[in-house]
Amino acid sequence: MIFTTRTAILFPLAWAAMAAGMVLAANPPFDDLRKQAPIHGDAVAGASKAATCAACHGAKGIAVAPNFPNLAGQSATYLYVQLRAFRGGARVNPVMQPLAKTLTDHDMRNLAAHFALLPGKAVSRAAQASSRGSILFHDGDAALGVPPCQGCHGIDGRGPRPDRTSTAPQPAWSSFPVLAGQNAPYVLTQLKAFRDGTRIGTSNDKVMQGVAHDLTIADMRALAGYVSRL
Ligand code: HEC
Ligand code: HEC
Repeated sequence: MIFTTRTAILFPLAWAAMAAGMVLAANPPFDDLRKQAPIHGDAVAGASKAATCAACHGAKGIAVAPNFPNLAGQSATYLYVQLRAFRGGARVNPVMQPLAKTLTDHDMRNLAAHFALLPGKAVSRAAQASSRGSILFHDGDAALGVPPCQGCHGIDGRGPRPDRTSTAPQPAWSSFPVLAGQNAPYVLTQLKAFRDGTRIGTSNDKVMQGVAHDLTIADMRALAGYVSRL
């Protein structure tokens, strides 16, 4: 091997840069939600903190624009873990990360309890039963390797209720989100983020990364449109 002065200088530099990159890649903030217990907060205290959220998520948790998510009627535990993920850096977003950093753990629990209690978005146009979105949501597409969404998000998209007769806490499920009535452009962005690996900071994100892996953009659009009308 011809070892010029140039390679002798550049080689160690390249190595140092790669090693630094590997250290960063090995330790991104990660939130393991597998043992996440259902959270409880003070909804009244949460309401008193919610004024700053209204600019984008609406005074009643129904977003002012379809690129923002509705928070009303969402699972409290899901809302809480998302705020925690923004604050800790496991979920990356330039708007929500600085906002979440101003909240204490108590604030996040209380805000989550507040928004979870508000009525979800009323849908004006009903979802189409035989559409591509409906088929994917209920049955998946075995040939493409897409699992049915209803298994984890509930048959009506209102979140999982594995045992409707039980009132016992069901930790593993409480962090799964409601999709019914969620804004289609927001849902599309999130499906892309799971597929492209830009939303992979929690164990639940890894689950969705696997789900979204084989979705085409057309199928993502069909699904986003379908769940937004549930
Ligand atoms: C300036 C606009 C803005 C404000 C103000 C704002 N948010 Fe957000 N919020 C967003 C955006 C944009 C997203 C979507 C981020 C993404 O794409 O990852 C989001 C996402 C969220 C999510 C995740 C929802 C989901 O379905 O995953 C939660 C929870 C949330 N915000 C809570 C709050 C709370 C609580 C406040 C007030 C303390 C607040 N936000 C204030 C813009 C805002
Ligand atoms: C094996 C369980 C499972 C299946 C199947 C599943 N999901 Fe999910 N999904 C989850 C979990 C868990 C989360 C929460 C991710 C997190 O905490 O960030 C989630 C999150 C989402 C979100 C983000 C919601 C938000 O408010 O940001 C969307 C959108 C979504 N799923 C759509 C779908 C669609 C569409 C399908 C079917 C093609 C599907 N999911 C199938 C478990 C599942």
